[in-house]
Amino acid sequence: MKNVTRRDLFKTSLAVPAVVVAATETVIGQEAQPQTAPPATAIQGPGRERLLLDFGWRFHFGHATDMAQDFNFRGNFSKSGNFGPLGTLLFDDGDWKAVDLPHDWAIELPFQNDPALSSKGFYPLGRAYPATSIGWYRRIFELPASDAGKRITLEFDAAYREATVILNGFYIGRHIGGYDPFTFDVTDFASPGARNVLLVRVDATQSDGWFYEGAGIYRHVWLVKTNPIHVKQWGTFAHAQVRPGEATVRIRTEVENHGKGARSTRVTSTILDPAGKTVGKAATLPASLVEGGEHVYEQQVVVKAPALWSLERRNLYKLVTEIQADGAVTDRCETPFGIRTCAFDPEKGFLLNGKSVKLKGTCNHQDHAGVGAALPDAIQYLRVRKLQEMGCNSLRTSHNPPTPELLNAADDLGMLVFDETRMMSSSPEGLSQYENLVRRDRNHPSVFMWSMGNEEGTAATARGFQILTAMKAVSTRHDGTRPVSIAPLGGNNMGKFGFAACDVQGYNYADPAADAFHKANPKVPVMGTEQVSAVATRGIYAMDPQRGYVGSYDPYTTTGRASCEGWWSFCNARPWLTGGFIWTGFDYRGEPSPYGWPNINSQYGIIDTCGFPKDSFFYFQAWWTPKPVLHLFPHWNWPGLEGQEIAVWVYSNLERVELFLNGQSLGAKDMKPDSHLAWNVKYTPGAIEARGYKGGKQVMTARRETTGPAAKLVLTADRKEISADGEDVAMFAVEVQDAQGRYMPIAGNQVNFRVSGQGKVIGVGNGDPADHESDKGSSRKAFSGLCMALVQSSKAAGNLTVEASSPGLTPASVTISAKAVKLRPQVAVWEREVPAGAGITGLWRPAPMAAAAGRGGGGFGGGGNQVFSFRQNGNALSGTVEGGGGRGGGGGDTPIAIEDGKLDGANISFSAAGVVYTGTLKGDAIELQRTGGAAMGGRGGRGAPPEPAGPRPAIGPPPDGSDPSSAAFIGLGRGGAGGRGAQTPAPIVLHRANR
Ligand code: GAL
Repeated sequence: MKNVTRRDLFKTSLAVPAVVVAATETVIGQEAQPQTAPPATAIQGPGRERLLLDFGWRFHFGHATDMAQDFNFRGNFSKSGNFGPLGTLLFDDGDWKAVDLPHDWAIELPFQNDPALSSKGFYPLGRAYPATSIGWYRRIFELPASDAGKRITLEFDAAYREATVILNGFYIGRHIGGYDPFTFDVTDFASPGARNVLLVRVDATQSDGWFYEGAGIYRHVWLVKTNPIHVKQWGTFAHAQVRPGEATVRIRTEVENHGKGARSTRVTSTILDPAGKTVGKAATLPASLVEGGEHVYEQQVVVKAPALWSLERRNLYKLVTEIQADGAVTDRCETPFGIRTCAFDPEKGFLLNGKSVKLKGTCNHQDHAGVGAALPDAIQYLRVRKLQEMGCNSLRTSHNPPTPELLNAADDLGMLVFDETRMMSSSPEGLSQYENLVRRDRNHPSVFMWSMGNEEGTAATARGFQILTAMKAVSTRHDGTRPVSIAPLGGNNMGKFGFAACDVQGYNYADPAADAFHKANPKVPVMGTEQVSAVATRGIYAMDPQRGYVGSYDPYTTTGRASCEGWWSFCNARPWLTGGFIWTGFDYRGEPSPYGWPNINSQYGIIDTCGFPKDSFFYFQAWWTPKPVLHLFPHWNWPGLEGQEIAVWVYSNLERVELFLNGQSLGAKDMKPDSHLAWNVKYTPGAIEARGYKGGKQVMTARRETTGPAAKLVLTADRKEISADGEDVAMFAVEVQDAQGRYMPIAGNQVNFRVSGQGKVIGVGNGDPADHESDKGSSRKAFSGLCMALVQSSKAAGNLTVEASSPGLTPASVTISAKAVKLRPQVAVWEREVPAGAGITGLWRPAPMAAAAGRGGGGFGGGGNQVFSFRQNGNALSGTVEGGGGRGGGGGDTPIAIEDGKLDGANISFSAAGVVYTGTLKGDAIELQRTGGAAMGGRGGRGAPPEPAGPRPAIGPPPDGSDPSSAAFIGLGRGGAGGRGAQTPAPIVLHRANR
């Protein structure tokens, strides 16, 4: 028997709010798992590259109503390739913020006490906040010349919301939905062998939901290169029919021919078992695939003695797909999948591999403390592990398609997923959102059912039946192996209207209606789709409307819906009831309930926004896991309440619990299954202690002691080692303790985090639903004695030390290691080289000019459009000039070498591509005059008109016939002697630049 100290528990579980010294209690939590993120869909092989495009972006706010503050974007669709100069290489984004994806700008905004923002968590987004509702993202990347002939696609896992994508000045497309993935084939607009400029305008003015949704490119972006004959996106599907001793894996492969002419194409499918051994193979006969055509190949492979995927054993097989065209391999990709059976039985509920599994689920939105909606993959794993600690075996992705990495975590760690679309509609957009969800997620063994929506009034109408029938046809076509359902508003219409299209009848909250439905329809499977409306603030035990806190005892619910115990005891008593999904696993931003401001987030979670468990976590742990649990609350720091009665509760799955106050027994009680125990205790400082008995023997104790003042910090990391890939994240949790090392449950000390070595703080949090400090700093107040920082690795291996300090308290520090790993394939970060050296060596750009408003190349944007790289060596000047001059995009942007460069005191002269530059160094600026050359051109890179030969007549064209209306004549040097003045362009004034 190992003695587990409170410190040990804290180390592994990241705060269990009880002082527990347990004789036989096993450590809460599983060993932290390394971040493993297998691809959700096909990855690279011969002919295919799938490169992460997350690093090295630039971000700037635009404006929803003022064009001038929105880079003069006015949606210039009049001509193809018109989106410059913002979409060109020469645009100066030096003052844009450097960001890596995933990125959510919403949580960087200050809270606004505006009731209209309540559902969004009081972040200023929407029509009333045009200055913070539009974000521009810009990324320059190089494509090697060898990419010529490849298909180039950009895959966005999602962006919130209304993304307009522009590549090299060409409008590519627009995507509205905030959660469904979108892909653009940009082959015709990409430039192999050159630099490419990707521009994305994201408009978060409108909403998809009624909860916090984030803003920006908050999921991964990928650059995918394939041969013209390739597997279509999400074009592989493997599902198994299991019989005793073997499984038939049915494989569907969709192949596209984007090349020239018809090709004879065949598909070879190889199945690798979880150990990587080949266990089956099949090849199709060659079939002619016409130019521009698509062909669907169907195959079957029998796998003997398959290792089934289950919650306990997450066996993942791999389908390796190889495409040959006229004998040559053109594409190879891998698709992980699982072999398992899922079924619903009206009497036994859900069956996984034939065994009844009660669904112990939670609904979850996707935001987390410190990072908003932009969750690094490691946080998806952290969240799934945390839910598993409480015994949860399933989750509902309420109310939208999840990020693919959540499904990877569910596959890897063993969590069933009820996978939900955002838009219940059979409109083209609604069907497309649903189709993308089904096609993208259909190989994940964790996904057991599709959800076509949530609480849609229309579902309870005849029209709803039409819509849901059309949606169901989509999932039948692209999957056909999983049932469908929808989470209804209540339970009154179960089986009727649109719900008649569902394979499983869901209900939200309405337990009695579910009972009545089952009695009337015993042959129809029933599953709770949304249950429990208990609200609680972690570590708080009294209602405090002023501060927006709710006592953590279970019966505090909203709108009279069920408590944790109320629902679970109902559900567990009914074997036919498949289980259900608690609203919610984690707290989330927005929908503050039951109070509004100063609350900025919901309090429905069993776990707070950081991942710290609330008391009810232990109710579920007691009844959902086999491990012995003894959880005692509240804390015992109640100065001023001496002599008053305090409700003392115990969550436990032991047989009998005896409560003591300062060593005096207050009586023992038997624990009824699915229940809790309670005593009313007159408060006296000291200690309360619960002793748990099993088989007549005392097996566990839990204590809560009145502590002294806060004295020190204890810091714990959830991972000892993370990957040095610039993506992985560890959670560093701080617990405030008194001088005797006891958790200080009412501490609110300000804690500062400092990282040295290979990492950085990417966000902080404390779970306080009414705290208006930013999650993006490196300091946070403890709340009920706890706070945390998320620390991300860099790409350099080494140690990473986090120090937590607080004025007047003993600080703490923890070191973990960031181990060298092979980076996943990714697009290199692009930076224009800034020459370093003496004199005028460096990057120079013209001072910003007024926005170009013409209908030509200057569609939107503004600023100078030439870049000078100077290298001064004594009196000699070398370097390059990018951009031929003139306004707008389309000017030559290949760097042109400087020739005949000289510096003579302050005088500068050089030429590039026939343009002669002469000028003067004036303090921090260089004034340059340009003469000659075709690169002086205006819009679209057209050459400047030649200098007129001879004097220009007062009326009519010059003798050489050049156009007197051209830019070279108008607005330049007017007012000189003779009225028209010199026929040379205005001088440009250069300043130093950093991009
Ligand atoms: C449900 C709804 C959830 C959430 C919850 C709050 O009816 O489906 O999205 O709004 O109420 O109580």
